[in-house]
Amino acid sequence: MIHPVILCGGSGTRLWPVSRKAYPKQFAPLVGTESLYQQTLRRFAGPDFAAPLIMTGDEFRFMAAEQAAALGLSDARVVIEPVARDTAPAILTAALLLADDPEARMLVAPSDHVIGDLPAFLAAVATGAGAATGGRLVTFGVTPDRPETGYGYLELASEPVPGETVSLKSFREKPDQATAEAFLAAGTYLWNAGIFLFRVTDVIAAFEAHAPGLIAPCRAAIEKGREDIGFLRLDEDGYAGAQAISFDYAIMEKAPHVAAVPLAGGWSDLGSWDAIWQTRAPDANGVATDGPVTAIECSDSYLRSEEGNMQLVGLGLNGIVAVAMRDAVLVADKSRAQDVKAVVSALRAAK
Ligand code: GDD
Ligand code: MG
Repeated sequence: MIHPVILCGGSGTRLWPVSRKAYPKQFAPLVGTESLYQQTLRRFAGPDFAAPLIMTGDEFRFMAAEQAAALGLSDARVVIEPVARDTAPAILTAALLLADDPEARMLVAPSDHVIGDLPAFLAAVATGAGAATGGRLVTFGVTPDRPETGYGYLELASEPVPGETVSLKSFREKPDQATAEAFLAAGTYLWNAGIFLFRVTDVIAAFEAHAPGLIAPCRAAIEKGREDIGFLRLDEDGYAGAQAISFDYAIMEKAPHVAAVPLAGGWSDLGSWDAIWQTRAPDANGVATDGPVTAIECSDSYLRSEEGNMQLVGLGLNGIVAVAMRDAVLVADKSRAQDVKAVVSALRAAK
């Protein structure tokens, strides 16, 4: 059995105004009628998977539980991180919770990605599961198409063969622009998809070797934690003692025995409006729309209205993102999609 561990803690500020502090992007039906979080849960609902372990923050616990229950996943277990400490402590805590069965494997998945080709993805997971049984920390790789600096890069030790894992020479989280350009040009790097698969015992051993300081606080958070109307609430004093660091920096950059499975097509980290535009199949003029929208003589634009009765009309637009909600409207140059997080900071500062 593989235990899905769903990471559900981030806030997704580049997708304002749909993604809000109290309603982050993974819980919103950004593409399709179900939320990205629900689409993630569905991916792991098959017979090869145990009930999911959902790692989330206090403010999201009811949304996480309700959206899981709406899919009929009443055995999903929701664990509350009383303070956000990034993904390394969250993954370690999940591993410690699953450690009763040391042979158990866990598959760590972010809750805000789109996987277009589910059969190909599950085949990649099956390939990775074999390598994980052999003691590898397995990650999944995506062929890069731009020098993105917001991702991790996997340096392959050899040419990937379909259906097999490939060893990594190195793992490099969020390189600077020049390094990302060099990686792209080299052709021997994949993006890290942010999905990981390993045996519980191997990942705990990796923490013992590379981030031993996290172990005592996460253990204390569990031991002093308590059941809280169906949730496991980690102890705040214990968990707060863990350093805030991502799994990529704490473990993946340092661990040997790392392997990757290439993911064939269909992966997208829906981090910004231009990524959403891309997955919404823009027409021949590059126009994609969602909701009651009319686009007249527009090109290279994404227009979205969240309100069923609010018409959004674009006339002669080029390279624009417009997202209309009842209480907020974003109109931005599409090339500035990454900068929308600055909008959120500016609005917060103005309060
Ligand atoms: N439970 C929990 N607690 N989840 C968290 C926390 C936390 O404190 N912080 C972040 N997450 C969740 C986010 O909601 C997201 O689903 C996932 O963990 C990854 O966090 P991000 O903050 O989105 O990471 P990133 O996008 O900068 O980088 C990661 O993903 C890239 C691909 O999308 C890395 O793994 C990169 O190497 C990778 O390329
Ligand atoms: Mg992300």
